[in-house]
Amino acid sequence: MSDQPEDTAATDPQSAIDAQGEQRRTELDDRIFDHNAGDEQEGIPFVGAGPGDPRLLTVAGKELLAEADLVVHAGSLVNSELLEEYCDHAETVSSIGKDLEELIPLMRDAHEDGDNVVRLHSGDPAIYGAALEQMDALEHEGVPTYFVPGVTSAFAASATLRTQLTLNEVSNHVAFTRPQGETLTEEDDHIGEFVEMGDVTTCIYLGTHAVAETMDRLIDDGHDPEIPVAVVYHASWPDEDVLYGTIGTIGEKLDEAGYRASAMVIIGEAVTGAGYERSYLYDGWADRGPDGDGAGGDASDDETETTDDSANPDTTEATQ
Ligand SMILES: C[S@@+](CC[C@H](N)C(=O)[O-])C[C@H]1O[C@@H](n2cnc3c(N)ncnc32)[C@H](O)[C@@H]1O
Repeated sequence: MSDQPEDTAATDPQSAIDAQGEQRRTELDDRIFDHNAGDEQEGIPFVGAGPGDPRLLTVAGKELLAEADLVVHAGSLVNSELLEEYCDHAETVSSIGKDLEELIPLMRDAHEDGDNVVRLHSGDPAIYGAALEQMDALEHEGVPTYFVPGVTSAFAASATLRTQLTLNEVSNHVAFTRPQGETLTEEDDHIGEFVEMGDVTTCIYLGTHAVAETMDRLIDDGHDPEIPVAVVYHASWPDEDVLYGTIGTIGEKLDEAGYRASAMVIIGEAVTGAGYERSYLYDGWADRGPDGDGAGGDASDDETETTDDSANPDTTEATQ
């Protein structure tokens, strides 16, 4: 990477974010139609590193890291083995403790000096990644950016638990959420509402430190203390750990284990993978057609949408 110029001042990031947001509201970005997710594009890629295991990085991410001169990464949330394995030739800088005023000129100047810059987020950058504000600030400075998706930690956790987050007749929806705290007010905390719905698998990010109080609130609000909860600490890392319990018991179990960060908390019956019904998908429906008259044919003939687990014969959404 080249030396940084002395004058690294950037536009005030908040004004840049406001301006970019306003522009987005009024005109669609041509790049949306010109590129597919996964395409290598001009500018700085915001890459999802995945949950931890370096092998859960995408091929696209790996290729971009191989070409990088500067990698700005999410500190301890990104496995150092991944950095050593895939970008040992690049300068690596942790973003922890750096504000936008520092990060934006760092990436902008390196990019303008001709360096390949990669911004590496944990999991998928689109989930609690605060990526868009960095991208907007960079775009406002004339530096193109784009997303490269990654495996979010909820998906790593479901793989660890050997279950699905959606399960026919058990869970029709998935909520990615976080508990109230400094960022989220009590009114904006919807965990109780998701649990109340009954057929939602609730995946709580950024809530390891607050599991006991979150569960206490659910009990105080009258939710069934027997609803299953799993906590997957450091999913896919060598020290991964799994705690099973219920709304009534998981808080104490977590306190005993002593984890205060880096865990995925999953609430709902899908945690156990029990009680589901076989899907229509592998029950001959796709061949019979929605009316059971054999007219359905190959779902793909209709170019209809497909689902993997529970195609609904009441709709024309077929399956594959
Ligand atoms: C700032 S958020 C980033 C989430 C990330 N963008 C993702 O898609 O997974 C950090 C939170 O993600 C969850 N998390 C990240 N990596 C994890 C892992 N390997 N295992 C379990 N939870 C993880 C934890 O809840 C942690 O508090």
